[in-house]
Amino acid sequence: MEELQLMKQAVQALMNGMPQALRDPHRPAWHLAPSVGLLNDPNGFIQHNGVYHLFYQWNPLGCDHRNKCWGHWQSTDLVNWRHQPVALVPGACYDSHGCYSGSAVVADGKIMLAYTGNVKYPDGSRTAYQCLAQENAQGGYDKLGPVLPLPPGYSGHVRDPKVWRHQDQWYMVLGARDLQNCGKVLLLRSADLRNWQLLGEIAGSQLNGIGDFGYMWECPDLFTLDDVEVLICCPQGLAAQAERYLNVYQAGYLTGKLDYQQARFEHGAFHELDLGFEFYAPQTTLAEDGRRLLVGWMGVPEQDEDCHPTLQYGWIHILTCPRELSLHQGKLYQQPARELQQLRDEGRQWQGIADAAPAWPVDSAELLLTPTGAFSADFGGAMTLVWDGNLLQLTRNNLRSGQPEHRYWRGNLNQLQLLFDRSSVEIFINHGEAVMSARYFPGPQPLLHLSGEAPLALEHWSLTPCML
Ligand code: FRU
Repeated sequence: MEELQLMKQAVQALMNGMPQALRDPHRPAWHLAPSVGLLNDPNGFIQHNGVYHLFYQWNPLGCDHRNKCWGHWQSTDLVNWRHQPVALVPGACYDSHGCYSGSAVVADGKIMLAYTGNVKYPDGSRTAYQCLAQENAQGGYDKLGPVLPLPPGYSGHVRDPKVWRHQDQWYMVLGARDLQNCGKVLLLRSADLRNWQLLGEIAGSQLNGIGDFGYMWECPDLFTLDDVEVLICCPQGLAAQAERYLNVYQAGYLTGKLDYQQARFEHGAFHELDLGFEFYAPQTTLAEDGRRLLVGWMGVPEQDEDCHPTLQYGWIHILTCPRELSLHQGKLYQQPARELQQLRDEGRQWQGIADAAPAWPVDSAELLLTPTGAFSADFGGAMTLVWDGNLLQLTRNNLRSGQPEHRYWRGNLNQLQLLFDRSSVEIFINHGEAVMSARYFPGPQPLLHLSGEAPLALEHWSLTPCML
């Protein structure tokens, strides 16, 4: 479809669809969700002159994975977001089948977007171009066209450029599927963002002693935290294990040292970033105050997407809350961005035996829980969290089959921070040592019920809605 045609249809879809989407009781009160249609990956997350920009993969015309545009939000505080004009709409010969994921940088004082132009052919094959777009005076983005065709030796699946500046050069990582069906991360360099040189593969299946590790790696993101290089990536094709890799596709990270000259990345084992049911394609940015912030998609490709009850209201998926990253003993910790505390009301505290605890409203709420022994928590009859002293188990009924399904974390549990927002929960374990993110669909005004014989301490806040 041509760009203008798609834009016209998108405007129509918004006018017709918004009133219905806003009536959905599962619509988040303070998380980012699409006005209508489907949202997936966060893209181009950046702070420039004090303003955060967050773009996202958006199909305004339906709840399936077609017509991928870049939607655009802006915020000065990571809490209150405003819609901006749609940044990218597919339709050029080099992005006819989607303006796929990518990132943002500031060059010559302007925001530049690096994205993948996805092109599909009638025979089912595809190609990909890495493309640029530049901010214009109206707050929109002008496409500058492709800067990199498919590199030789790879399938049509090469995408999701994440670009950054290092020692007077631009660098890019790309996710790729090679001709042997191994997922890879490619490193490239450029002096001017336009001419790119492929330096090599820095990580992937069958590389650096990692063995067979998936047929495609999507959405890489490489950054330095405390002198350590962290490579976030989303491998596809990992077999599920007893308590790991339980979603359809994974999102995780490797830490190590990147040799920019040799394009070699010595890294340790792969760790999942989030142990919940829904989390994928996260992207980070360096805030102007030095924090490394992350936002993820609270969804997973091809995972029960046709079963979400929000489909009846013409929209699907949300983003996670913004999270602050830090490294502790080689482990990546995630904590909710401190700005989210603005949403708290005056708060209530409680202490005692779990069995004696009152019920807590969790429609839009935050809970800090300090357990001293085993307990279980029921969220609105739609999800449970059980701690037995060794294993933390999150359970919900599968959206398709109705059968219970579980996610797990093992360790020494000291504290839980739970953020609820209508149809989602994000569970931060031990101040961010691990996270479990999940969508769930409780009835109206859900309550959290605790049970167990051990004492626990609890703090509760209702969170003030701030999203339209
Ligand atoms: C990840 C992903 C990316 C791609 C985008 C398309 O969810 O498949 O690899 O660029 O979504 O929307």
